[in-house]
Amino acid sequence: MKSLDVLLLSRRDVESLDLTPDHVLTAVEGALREHAAGTYEMHPKIGVHPTGTHPENFIHAMPAYLRQLGACGLKWVGGFPRNREWDLPNVTGVQVFNDIDTGVPLAIMDCAYLTGLRTAAVSAAIARLCARPGAETLAVAGCGFEGAKHLRFLTHVLPGLRQVRLYDVRPEAMTVLGSQAADYFSGEVVLCDTAERCLRGAEVISTCTNGDVQIIQQEWFAPGAFGVGIEGGCAYTAPALHQADKFIVDDIPLAEYFQKISLDHPDENGETCEEFPGGIPPIYATIGEIVSGTKACRESDEERIVAIPIGMAICDVALASVVYELAGKRGVGQTFQLA
Ligand SMILES: NC(=O)c1ccc[n+]([C@@H]2O[C@H](COP(=O)([O-])OP(=O)(O)OC[C@H]3O[C@@H](n4cnc5c(N)ncnc54)[C@H](O)[C@@H]3O)[C@@H](O)[C@H]2O)c1
Repeated sequence: MKSLDVLLLSRRDVESLDLTPDHVLTAVEGALREHAAGTYEMHPKIGVHPTGTHPENFIHAMPAYLRQLGACGLKWVGGFPRNREWDLPNVTGVQVFNDIDTGVPLAIMDCAYLTGLRTAAVSAAIARLCARPGAETLAVAGCGFEGAKHLRFLTHVLPGLRQVRLYDVRPEAMTVLGSQAADYFSGEVVLCDTAERCLRGAEVISTCTNGDVQIIQQEWFAPGAFGVGIEGGCAYTAPALHQADKFIVDDIPLAEYFQKISLDHPDENGETCEEFPGGIPPIYATIGEIVSGTKACRESDEERIVAIPIGMAICDVALASVVYELAGKRGVGQTFQLA
């Protein structure tokens, strides 16, 4: 039965569904496999950049269609790093989820919480295949919303972890995340007062900063390390990024587009802050190719591997599909009629 009913889901509604890491991983890995199979439609994010309050401000439009899943929609998402001063999240926005037969919007939902889950799930999906088996140390730099979700998902997929090191320029963020981690991680949690104490020699490195400082030095990224950075390649110095034996992105046109716009838009001092410092390294594979098994993942204990997921709309749509179905079953949210 088709209708013009639209389900509205607030962030609280979405959170109330209690999506587990496995729920989210299943949805996101399905989208990654469709990416490798080519059964999708997605375009490099177009956006606007109201940079009055911070040079990194953006609002992106992210439409996507997954043919095998039969799902489509659009995310309209902003990242405004100074929002903390107004007690607002850095990332805010809405996900529209459409009917593929009629085009009618079936749901409009908060996308901030879902973005955190899908981004951490993509990082976890590639980490479980590319981190050294039995890796014991995880370093997380940037302990905000994404850092918290990454810690939750990475500890979930890497059962050998014994020590987690946290670093943030805001010490209070580390303290909060360190105490939350005790709910699901029984190993040692170390709060680090410098980036070097956190990152040097860690077997798995996850960066979730605002991307305005290149913190990872070449000699800190040891042989056998795996790194995943969600702020483009911006958390890496050029030598650290370019020494990777395997360099992986989520989507090649997306990576090339972001590198191009970062070069086309110097900051207010006339300096360019490249999305990939020193240029995009030779790309070994996409995350979808690794997850679907069409490209080999780690092949030796010595390989340094870096993955940079820029953020794919197809993963958002796959997760929105799960949320729409679950919310419908549980009677969560409010409905309004477009007519
Ligand atoms: N690739 C993707 O798919 C994707 C998705 C969502 C967000 N992001 C990006 O992830 C980043 C984090 O988003 P968030 O929602 O967690 O923001 P947030 O503001 O909640 O967290 C960012 C944290 O990084 C810390 N930080 C800033 N600079 C730092 C530095 N040099 N060293 C250590 N810590 C530092 C901040 O103090 C803050 O705690 C943003 O850059 C955002 O644009 C990427």
